[in-house]
Amino acid sequence: MKLNTFPSTIVIFLVSSLLLSYSCKHLPLNDGIIIPVDPTGNGNNTGSQCSPDTVYFVQQVLPLMQSGCAVSGCHDAITHKEDLRLDSYSDIMATGGINVNNPTESKIYRAMVKTDEERMPPAPASPMNSSQLALIVKWIGQGAKNNSCIESGCDTTNVTYTNHIKPMVQNACQGCHSGAAPGGGIELSTYAGIKAVADNGKFYGSISHLSGYNAMPKNGNKLTDCQIKMVQIWINQGAPQN
Ligand code: HEC
Repeated sequence: MKLNTFPSTIVIFLVSSLLLSYSCKHLPLNDGIIIPVDPTGNGNNTGSQCSPDTVYFVQQVLPLMQSGCAVSGCHDAITHKEDLRLDSYSDIMATGGINVNNPTESKIYRAMVKTDEERMPPAPASPMNSSQLALIVKWIGQGAKNNSCIESGCDTTNVTYTNHIKPMVQNACQGCHSGAAPGGGIELSTYAGIKAVADNGKFYGSISHLSGYNAMPKNGNKLTDCQIKMVQIWINQGAPQN
């Protein structure tokens, strides 16, 4: 699990995982907006209240790694290309690819910012976008902790596609649902693709883990009750591109 070979293959796999399953168009995460993912799977986050100044591994970094890197054929538990697994905190840290003293020299980060074919995730996946890279660097700089936070409430007064749904899907779903071979043949990097699963019931059914649907995010933590509620509200509004 040492990232001694990190230079190319690891980076490639990281990036490729992102790109492969996602072909991820990693859209900008909305800075300041915390997009929590429920680490317990039962709707309860753990830790202290979410602070906009802190980057949380469980809510913000892990979903990126799970959907971008720890995907089937790349750095998941089964494939673990280059002997690298990137689907949990301990596995990510065990790679040796995180350098808290010099975040931008971390091998995992270096792999993501390469401009050649060694970039992770590799093409056809999209590279991590600047917001996502900044988030990772900030998390490493803050000590690369296995931290988690509790949402201080669920403000659903003005749920919009732009401010809530799109960043949520970019963070937790797009790594697997974009690119040349999106998961289940479902493309979620465009409004049209998201609208289609909103309209046919699969978006809500899969994230709510309703019977008859494949539970999403696949192999990842369930979205929080707040996120699921926002999706429901947005769908009930007709899933507008607002
Ligand atoms: C790690 C990869 C991965 C992630 C992350 C992921 N998906 Fe999927 N998704 C898949 C695969 C693969 C399938 C095909 C069915 C299966 O294998 O479970 C799928 C299927 C689906 C389906 C069809 C479900 C059905 O019952 O027909 C929907 C809808 C969906 N995903 C939405 C999402 C949403 C929304 C997110 C983010 C909250 C997400 N996925 C995150 C890989 C992923």
